[in-house]
Amino acid sequence: TSEESYACWLQYRKITDPTLVEKLTSSLSNLIVLDQSERLTAAIDELTTAIQSMLEVKPVTLTELGEENGVVLATEESLKLNNIELEYDVSELTVEGYVIKSAHNNIYLIGKTDKGVLYAAFHLLRLVQGNEPLTNLNIIEQPKNRLRMINQWDNMDGSIERGYAGKSIFFEENKITSNLARIKDYARLLSSVGINSVSINNVNVFEVPTRLITEEFLPEVKNVADIFRSYGITTFLSINYASPIQIGHLHTADPLAPEVQEFWKDVANEIYKYVPDFGGFIVKADSEHRPGPFTYDRDHAEGANVLAKALKPHGGIVIWRCFVYNCLQDWRDRTTDRARAAYDNFKPLDGKFLDNVILQVKNGPMDFQVREAVSPLLGAMPNTNQVLEFQVTQEYTGQQKDLCYLVPLWKEVFDFDTHARGEGTTIKKITEGSVFDYSHSGVAAVSNIGNDENWTGNTLAQANFYGYGRLIWNPDLSAEEIALEWIEATFGNDPKVVETVSKMLLQSWEIYENYTTPLGIGWMVNPNHHYGVNVDGYEYSVWGTYHFADLNGLGVDRTVATGTGYTNQYFSPNSEMYESLETCPDDLLLFFHHVPYTHQLKTGKTVIQHFYNTHFEGVEQVEGLIESWIKLEGKIDKIRFANVLERLQLQLINAKEWRDQFNTYFFRKSGIADEKNRKIY
Ligand code: GCU
Repeated sequence: TSEESYACWLQYRKITDPTLVEKLTSSLSNLIVLDQSERLTAAIDELTTAIQSMLEVKPVTLTELGEENGVVLATEESLKLNNIELEYDVSELTVEGYVIKSAHNNIYLIGKTDKGVLYAAFHLLRLVQGNEPLTNLNIIEQPKNRLRMINQWDNMDGSIERGYAGKSIFFEENKITSNLARIKDYARLLSSVGINSVSINNVNVFEVPTRLITEEFLPEVKNVADIFRSYGITTFLSINYASPIQIGHLHTADPLAPEVQEFWKDVANEIYKYVPDFGGFIVKADSEHRPGPFTYDRDHAEGANVLAKALKPHGGIVIWRCFVYNCLQDWRDRTTDRARAAYDNFKPLDGKFLDNVILQVKNGPMDFQVREAVSPLLGAMPNTNQVLEFQVTQEYTGQQKDLCYLVPLWKEVFDFDTHARGEGTTIKKITEGSVFDYSHSGVAAVSNIGNDENWTGNTLAQANFYGYGRLIWNPDLSAEEIALEWIEATFGNDPKVVETVSKMLLQSWEIYENYTTPLGIGWMVNPNHHYGVNVDGYEYSVWGTYHFADLNGLGVDRTVATGTGYTNQYFSPNSEMYESLETCPDDLLLFFHHVPYTHQLKTGKTVIQHFYNTHFEGVEQVEGLIESWIKLEGKIDKIRFANVLERLQLQLINAKEWRDQFNTYFFRKSGIADEKNRKIY
């Protein structure tokens, strides 16, 4: 077993420089905690274990300011009660904000509330682990996004939908786990990167998990929620829209039927007896064969509002997913366009949802491909709360065998200018809630963890978990900064390791795109499990995910002029930019246009030559990743070294298969040879 793997970025390695140890020991030997709460206890526990592990001295906990100096943990309120002056107006902080400040020979960790204090404690420990001497600290932090959520896609039989890191840490054999220690460690990891909400069960809710909202399971849901609460994390559950029938024994789930409204009220009342700060429901309705309001001729707003009304008196919210599309499409039908579906379904309902409903909009509009246009629904509903949905688990991006650091992808999305309110209306401003007057907004993502010892299968996939939390806390951080932070916390600060791993991470998205599906075309994966190449795997299926390759060319025509009209869902000038072949960016060319193989890209290369080039190059780049990693042997513990090497070797097999099938397929279709005469089968 490997403690490093399990601890991820919270390893609290021993600090070796004796001068630094002496300096830090004198600052960190006393923890003076001026309030009492579960979260402050969590903060004190974390600080105590961490300081002991890094400095080999056990800090003493005191409850009053006196002779001793040390780390003072306090909320704004107790700061006032104790008449402490900090030359900073803490009242200006938002509710989760904090200040870390050196003053009066102490280090103050001041939160607007105890949640901020906890975040400050994790921040301080990050500094210590980074060998900072902690002099003259003056840090003010607050999250940019309010809702910062993780969605577990865990099933109660212990399996995880699209999970690549073992089984569920929450469920086994249709019960909630008794291993609460692991859940606590998960809560620590989440909290350390600022995640404040979690839904614990899969959005596809079948028989047993339908009953999670009943007395049968609520006592144990409570145990889980209690742990999360002490780390500042609110617990949510995914629900089955047909619950009134399945557990309420009603003959209908019609949201307008009075008995259905009663049913949801009763459910909510029951849940809040056990979990007084329960977050609310996640709902996948009328999506991929899951039940929803359409059955009763009701729209999504009517569907969501019945739940919202039931939760409202308790302060709960409904997170309603917009992943609604026709999943029984006929491939012969060129007019139906899955990318359009979320916008077409939801945009007309703007303003009809109650204010404790949030629409969760998946990005991209198709489904978490390696590159897609940004969902045009984001920013298109000024009167409806929205939350952006990402996927941390690497369903279409290598399944935690292949390396794919996703922070650069997410950053591109955050920085995309929707022009919803003129220039500068970026996605990050929308999720931050500064463009429209949203009562709720933020970001959610599908988790990539399971019960593998290292949580994420591939140790390097921990960077996506870490990076997701850090980036949604502050979308202005760069992908590189986040990578460096993660690497140092995870592997230490040997410059060779830092430089190599950082380079590997930062190139990995492009590499993955190179040997899989460049120019925005997407898919071409094996049906069902979605790993590995299968160019026509979905070409004649019902799922609406086609590339339309023939002897002349490929791509999906989404223009207004000749295609599905999807480009019109964007605000000007994006709509015109995508509509025109001249201005559409190359990396999304085939997402928007059907072009001949001989179409010339802005690089001067033809599409077909670009295909060949990126696929040959992609494989070489994976070979390069392996070479780089091998040079780190001896600098990283054996277990993690071997784990990553094994994954990289699987990635190489995958990349070669992609290269050869993809190139052969398009050579056979087009009859156009590779300019450089490389081996095509
Ligand atoms: C993808 C994924 C499904 C998942 C769905 C969703 O299509 O393959 O497993 O259920 O997304 O987001 O609901």
